[in-house]
Amino acid sequence: MSLNKTITLNDGNKIPQIGLGTWLSKPGEVGNAVEIAVKAGYRHLDLAKIYQNQPEIGESLKKVIPSVVKREELFITSKLWNNAHRADKVEAAYDETLKELGLDYLDLYLIHWPVAFAPGADLVPKTSDGSQTVLDRETSIVDTWKALIALQKAGKVKSIGVSNFTIADLEAITNATGVAPAVNQIEAHPLLPQDDLVAYANKHNIHLTAYSPLGNNLSGKTKIVDYPQVSEVAKKYNADPAQVLIAWGVKRGYSVIPKSVTDTRIKSNFDQLELKDEDYETVTSLYKELGKVRFNIPKTYQPFWDIDIFGEEAEKGAKYTVKRE
Ligand SMILES: NC(=O)c1ccc[n+]([C@@H]2O[C@H](COP(=O)([O-])OP(=O)(O)OC[C@H]3O[C@@H](n4cnc5c(N)ncnc54)[C@H](OP(=O)(O)O)[C@@H]3O)[C@@H](O)[C@H]2O)c1
Repeated sequence: MSLNKTITLNDGNKIPQIGLGTWLSKPGEVGNAVEIAVKAGYRHLDLAKIYQNQPEIGESLKKVIPSVVKREELFITSKLWNNAHRADKVEAAYDETLKELGLDYLDLYLIHWPVAFAPGADLVPKTSDGSQTVLDRETSIVDTWKALIALQKAGKVKSIGVSNFTIADLEAITNATGVAPAVNQIEAHPLLPQDDLVAYANKHNIHLTAYSPLGNNLSGKTKIVDYPQVSEVAKKYNADPAQVLIAWGVKRGYSVIPKSVTDTRIKSNFDQLELKDEDYETVTSLYKELGKVRFNIPKTYQPFWDIDIFGEEAEKGAKYTVKRE
């Protein structure tokens, strides 16, 4: 069943609830994935400068606009990368993304991380020994948020938002500018329910988009789709475990952006089911049994970012915290 529901954001624009993720979708694969997705009915695409695959996506957009969809029927998100957080770099970075995609506007532009890197051409500027990423400690998230507000005021982008922001980060930018982000895109799946952040977002009318809804599968740990609790629920609906995880996110009100480059999975991930309350509870109980797992922590990257973003155990001892003013 393709429900393809949309959710109205705090600025009045509408985001389709299911989108296609494109992180780690390789060159030679990503264009095809986007084309299959749009033909299958997806209207929401989640992109980013740092995924380094936007030019190929731009080529595939030409194949589907306007023959399959009108541009205004698509909801296209991209993200400002960390090397362009300084206020005087933001508009040029946005324009470069438009150029890569062959578009004249985005539906949603997000600050990808609450972390500024040394500004310049290098996407990931490194220390001389190559172990660490060079951070910019001058530019705050408020500075960057103000530049996004200016882009929206100038009519260049429909909606603006953030990603990987905590409650404290959201409060800092909203208190400083009076403008709350339309969206916070966060890691969210049954092993990372983030109930506090969900309650805050609901109260302040900030929409949450769930990234890594299938748990990404990068960690080497058991994939969430492979837990028996998830496959037992899937069997009841004669569905795929991934569909259960997507439905779990939908039931929590998120938009959900599973990534796949596999034809059959792109299609089945879009084929939505509605979880009954008891099945939702079964999936939710995974957290109580297994505890919290956050897969995406930049302090553990190579080269690592020496910053505590989320207050996780793995970030203890980091030199910096998010610069909020
Ligand atoms: N804002 C951020 O910082 C941030 C961070 C991470 C992700 N994101 C966004 O969120 C999107 C989704 O997150 P993600 O890519 O991390 O992980 P994900 O969507 O949770 O998982 C993707 C993995 O699951 C596999 N998969 C897809 N459909 C499946 C199915 N039906 N059954 C079993 N396995 C399946 C994919 O393989 P195949 O492709 O081989 O099918 C891929 O290995 C990203 O692509 C990106 O757009 C944003």
